[in-house]
Amino acid sequence: MKIIVTGGAGFIGSAFVRMAIGETDLEVVNLDALTYAGNLENLTSVATSERYRFVHGDICDAALVEALVAEEKPDAIVHFAAESHVDRSILSPEPVVRTNFNGTFTLLEAAKRNQIGRFVHVSTDEVYGSLEAPHEADEQYPLNPSSPYSASKAASDLLARSYFVTFHLPVVITRASNNYGPYQFPEKLIPLMISNALEDKALPVYGDGQQIRDWLYVEDHCRGILAVLRQGREGEIYNIGGNRSLPNLDVVHQLLAITEKPESLIRYVTDRPGHDRRYALSSEKLMRETGWEPVMNFETGLARTIQWYRDNSAWVSHVRSGEYRAYYETNYAHRTGE
Ligand code: NAD
Ligand code: TYD
Repeated sequence: MKIIVTGGAGFIGSAFVRMAIGETDLEVVNLDALTYAGNLENLTSVATSERYRFVHGDICDAALVEALVAEEKPDAIVHFAAESHVDRSILSPEPVVRTNFNGTFTLLEAAKRNQIGRFVHVSTDEVYGSLEAPHEADEQYPLNPSSPYSASKAASDLLARSYFVTFHLPVVITRASNNYGPYQFPEKLIPLMISNALEDKALPVYGDGQQIRDWLYVEDHCRGILAVLRQGREGEIYNIGGNRSLPNLDVVHQLLAITEKPESLIRYVTDRPGHDRRYALSSEKLMRETGWEPVMNFETGLARTIQWYRDNSAWVSHVRSGEYRAYYETNYAHRTGE
């Protein structure tokens, strides 16, 4: 089976490509624009595989996407490419709407014209918005996105679904909770806090730090996507959660304990506008239909992730140079008053 993966040089996409090449017999064509978040260093272990090909290109480039899909004639498209960060979507929504919505449209069109047998659209639990405890979102839960990021993902989910309903394109949508693990760009909570802690820098906690997220180890997510690729029913949505809800401050405390750094590094900073208080989802449908379940325990996964960042300081300093500095300055300077 041959698949086109979009965004395969990013955090989750590259974990998926490494798994697909290392643990399955899938042939993978990786289409990625190599934005600030895309990094071919994430793929050195698969770069020479005969079952792997990299194509540098933008999913919004309709001519390029059409030519690639027509040439490769893949059995499926697994669509990860996105602008994936809420804070950046607040600072600069244009690329977020462009890639997440227009890019998905371009791919859906090419998939329709070339009668692709399966389109896995990778989405997020953030489309359900903030939920009061003890509610959990199942796949029928109303969409209530809060940020330009989550709104663009919800819009692209609806567009993908419309291609199933209207054109019978075999679309399957996945909605995962917050991922963590090796190779995550240090703009998201866990890798940002790890890389700051390892350098004895302040850990910027937004608001009171009591916001709740469900944490999913990236390899558990990728196995869930493989299960959906193989067994998911056309036109269906599948939540993929880690079954581990924690307030942000608990995550930060655990991380400080493992890195043996002092609590005094914690810095409470101005909250994110429109900050969702709590995400919670049920993955019962995926578990029931495919037998998938998340296997990584959070404490083990966090320790493993911290060890990876310790062992890969060159990767960290590389991705934190250049553009990252400008972003950090813009996102955090006004929060801390520095
Ligand atoms: P990421 O930001 O690490 O990587 C995104 C990748 O997409 C990068 O390689 C980037 O170069 C590529 N890309 C961006 N714009 C592109 C364009 N116009 N054309 C081609 N490539 C482009 O993101 P991630 O965290 O790996 O997330 C991957 C997917 O999973 C996204 O769709 C995201 O919404 C979804 N998701 C992420 C999480 C999470 O916790 N990170 C949780 C649930 C769902
Ligand atoms: P993030 O990793 O950006 O994921 P998302 O907002 O998509 O869930 O943030 C996770 C949580 O951590 C969220 O409640 C915001 C909070 N957070 C901080 O407190 N400080 C930070 O510097 C960052 C990046 C996030």
